[in-house]
Amino acid sequence: MAALPSHRVGAEAAGSYTLPAPYYVDPAIYELEQARIFGRGWAFAGLLSALAAPGSSLHCRVGGRSITVARDGGELRATNIESGAPAAVNDIGGLVMVSPDADATALTPRLDGLAEALRRWVPDLERLTFAARITSDFRANWKVMVDNSIECYHCPVAHPDFDGLLDLDSYRITVHDIHAVHVGRAGRPDNTAYGFAGDAAYDFASFWLWPNLLFGPFPGRCNLTVHQILPLGPERTREHFDFYFLDATPSPEEAAAVAYFRDVLRPQDVALVESVQRGLHSLAYRDGPLVIDPAGSYLSESNLHRFHRLILEALLA
Ligand SMILES: [Fe+2]
Repeated sequence: MAALPSHRVGAEAAGSYTLPAPYYVDPAIYELEQARIFGRGWAFAGLLSALAAPGSSLHCRVGGRSITVARDGGELRATNIESGAPAAVNDIGGLVMVSPDADATALTPRLDGLAEALRRWVPDLERLTFAARITSDFRANWKVMVDNSIECYHCPVAHPDFDGLLDLDSYRITVHDIHAVHVGRAGRPDNTAYGFAGDAAYDFASFWLWPNLLFGPFPGRCNLTVHQILPLGPERTREHFDFYFLDATPSPEEAAAVAYFRDVLRPQDVALVESVQRGLHSLAYRDGPLVIDPAGSYLSESNLHRFHRLILEALLA
């Protein structure tokens, strides 16, 4: 395309605005994102623990290509399935990330402290195993769901059960180069979302990794959720919301948590982003000012600012 639509995404978060509406609806922007972000980007393949058994492998699709990862002695080796060409692979604290481009810039050097934070918040990560997946298809641009997932400004209104499940006052956001860390304390074991044993409860964390991956534990026994937000078209997106538990068969508490995510939380967010997408077509709206709290409380949209800056950088590259 000739030129990107004008924007007011400033260098600093304070005083900055969101990406303007055309970035969320224009098919030409979508095509550019496919080429510049997803075609050469990184995607989540699975947990390193899934490769412990001899002969085991992980498979995923990224940039329209299928990639397989296996252990080769002490090394991880990734291969493009169709062409047999090598692909790139990075282990981020137990998360296996792959890129179809063997020469992709390694992720690890840009992720200051992410593997350590993951280790701290999910200390038994290497014992976790895949247990459940929730897939949702919805009518919104993929960035609307990422925006929604990297701020909690909407939480008290959109997710009434969070009042109790999480201690929102303890929520803190730290924005880094291409990732962000959102952490806080668990709420009450007898909340309205799902019950959990108070003495064994993990707190919650949500790590965002550019461009479209979120992961972290929710309150309860040691666990990890992985949220992949996959573009299907300018205004169509699929998300996979995966649960990793200590056992492939969830405990009654974990099953209740999965049911809450499946029947309550994901439908709430999907309805919200579809309504935002409809609003993006309104002639009265183009962009909006970001709410920035320097202390990084749940009200702050500092992570949105970083995400939108990276989108512009990638589109201009
Ligand atoms: Fe939400």
